[in-house]
Amino acid sequence: PIPVIIDCDTGVDDALALLFAVRHPGIRLRAVTCVAGNTDVDQVVRNTLTVLEHAGAGDVPVARGAERPLLEPVRTARHVHGRDGMGDLGLPAPARRPADTDAVSLLRREILASDRPVTLVPTAPLTNIALLLRTHPEVTAHIERIVFMGGAVATGNATPVAEFNVWHDPEAAAVLLTAGVPITMYGLDVFERVIVPAADVRRLGASAEPGARLAGRLLAHRRPATAHDPAGGLGDAGAVCAVADPEGLTTHRLPVEVNLAPGPARGQTVVDRRPRPGEAELHGEAREQRLVDVALDIDAARYVALWLAAVEGGGRR
Ligand code: BDR
Ligand code: CA
Repeated sequence: PIPVIIDCDTGVDDALALLFAVRHPGIRLRAVTCVAGNTDVDQVVRNTLTVLEHAGAGDVPVARGAERPLLEPVRTARHVHGRDGMGDLGLPAPARRPADTDAVSLLRREILASDRPVTLVPTAPLTNIALLLRTHPEVTAHIERIVFMGGAVATGNATPVAEFNVWHDPEAAAVLLTAGVPITMYGLDVFERVIVPAADVRRLGASAEPGARLAGRLLAHRRPATAHDPAGGLGDAGAVCAVADPEGLTTHRLPVEVNLAPGPARGQTVVDRRPRPGEAELHGEAREQRLVDVALDIDAARYVALWLAAVEGGGRR
C-alpha cells in the first residue's frame, strides 16, 4: 500500500477523505495532522479522532497543529460545515486524546520512519505543511508527492477568485509551491464535480456499519449552500481518490503562483495556461512560478464508484 499522511481541518468533506483513506486497500494511512481552517484546531482534533473511531482506525496517530495561519487571522467556514465543523450531527466526543507531540514533529517522524517515500495529502490550509518544510527541509527527500486540495484554475469559493484553503493562509501555500517536491494541485475546478447520487447517500445513511452510516449522514449535510458546494459532493475525498487511482485525473504540468498582494485577488492561484511566453516574460519580468501538476479534468463517476466501494466495503483493510 501507498504510505499516506493526511493534514486536514475536519470538516465534513475531510471526514469523507479520512473514511476512504482508512478503508482503501491500496493506502496505508500512517498519521493524521490537524490545522485550523473549517473550524478551530481543537475542534478539528476532536472531529478527526471521532471519525477515525467510527472507521475502526482508533490507532492511527493524530496530532494537533497550527491554531492560526502564518499571517492571517483564523477565518472559519462554520456556515458550510456547521458549528462543530461536522454538520452538527451530535456525534459523541472521542474516547482518546491526540498524540503528545505536535503536528510538525509527527509529520517529520512518520515521513522519516516510512520504508517508502510518503505521499502527503493536505486537505486544509497549508500552515502545518509550510512549517514542516521550513523546520525540517530534510523531509523533502522522503516525500513521494504532495497532492493538495486547494487553489483553482478558473474559479473561487472564499472569494470570486480564491479557494478557501489557499486564501486562509496564502503565504503557507506559497511555501508549499516552492518546496521543490512533486506537487499535484487538486483544485476547485475538479473538486466540485465529484458528487454522490442521492440514492447512494440514502443507502449509506441507513447502513448498520458505523463508518458507512457516518459517511451517509455527512454527505446528506452537504446540501447546496452555494453553487460551489453541491449536494453530496465528495470534496476533499476526491484528492485521496486521486492518490489511490491517479488515472482518473487529467493533469497538466503548468506554472502556478499564489497572489500574496493585499486586495481582491489575494489567495488566488495564478495558473499559466498560455502556450507560449507573453509580453511580460519577453520584457524580463521575474515571476515566482513553479511547475505543478494541475488537475484540469476528472472522471467523476469513477471516483464516486471507487469511494463507495471502499467506504461500503466493510471494516478497515
Ligand atoms: C476546501 O475548504 C473546506 O471548506 C473544504 O474542507 C475543502 O478542503 C474547499 O475550498
Ligand atoms: Ca478541508
